[in-house]
Amino acid sequence: MNILMNNENLSRPEVADIQEEKFETTLRPQHLSEYIGQTKVKESMKIYIEAAKKRGDALDHCLFYGPPGLGKTTISGIIANEMNSKIKITSGPAIEKPGDLAGILTSLEEYDVLFIDEIHRLSKVVEEILYPALEDFVLDITIGKGPEAKSIRLDLPKFTLIGATTKAGSLTTPLRDRFGIVQKLELYSVEDLSTIIKRSSKILGVEIDEASSIEIARRSRGTPRIANRLLKRVRDFASVLSDGKIDLKIAKYALNQLEIDELGLEETDRKMLSMMIVQYSGRPVGIEALAASLGEEIDTIEDVYEPYLLQIGFIARTPKGRVVLPPAYEHMGYDYQTKIY
Ligand code: ADE
Repeated sequence: MNILMNNENLSRPEVADIQEEKFETTLRPQHLSEYIGQTKVKESMKIYIEAAKKRGDALDHCLFYGPPGLGKTTISGIIANEMNSKIKITSGPAIEKPGDLAGILTSLEEYDVLFIDEIHRLSKVVEEILYPALEDFVLDITIGKGPEAKSIRLDLPKFTLIGATTKAGSLTTPLRDRFGIVQKLELYSVEDLSTIIKRSSKILGVEIDEASSIEIARRSRGTPRIANRLLKRVRDFASVLSDGKIDLKIAKYALNQLEIDELGLEETDRKMLSMMIVQYSGRPVGIEALAASLGEEIDTIEDVYEPYLLQIGFIARTPKGRVVLPPAYEHMGYDYQTKIY
């Protein structure tokens, strides 16, 4: 992975982003055996990897989808490792022109893994170059323009494309159909997150007790990236306010200071729920209206906030719009009266 090592000329937020990325990278497992959770995905990938190795072939193209922060990049790195191959990492929006993709494809070596994050954001022209590359490992290039234009075909090495997306439904059918392996990543259980937190603490050299790792896990919205971020913040509180060890008292204090409640909800979640309860009186709300009222992008609500609220049964998607459910009323301290619309 490309990580800038020289931070001298960067402004503070950029430095913080890089440090966050470095931290995430250090905590990333390198092998399937170290990867916690996603049992179904892990077990099937183990079989597909072993079978490809047995055939002496590249692994079939894979698509991973699910909410952000669940480990799509991590699992792709692991796959490359387990296949003893190299990984090239890019993203849909970074590949602007067909020439960008041609450059990437021609730089690949046999059995390399090409990871394209946010693959649903590839442009149509770029996507069309990808089809023959995926199917027949060839690259069709047009040289010149108009009647003089010539098309040449280049052979590519056999490679594995791993696509990642938060929006499987936004992929075009021809692109989706070219992935032989399609895997959905699910939100993690509290137990798995707690195991991840304990593993990360060990790597960071921070002592943490069982109750604290469960407390942080409970407030991590099923997402390892959030769990690791919260662990880092709680560690800061522990190092300044006590002896550096994380116990339940300091964990709870830090998480409350961060305004993350017992279920992991933050300000925007709470604003959204109270808006649905009070302003819309519990009636179904369209996503556009919600986004406008909250001042958030529709994509952010759909990808970042909704998956967890749906998972814990606080909201539901209906043909008429999003509805807020009784457990959300209780959590937010409102009375729920049965409503029929
Ligand atoms: N760090 C982040 N995600 C992880 C996972 N699924 N297993 C182990 N460590 C992780």
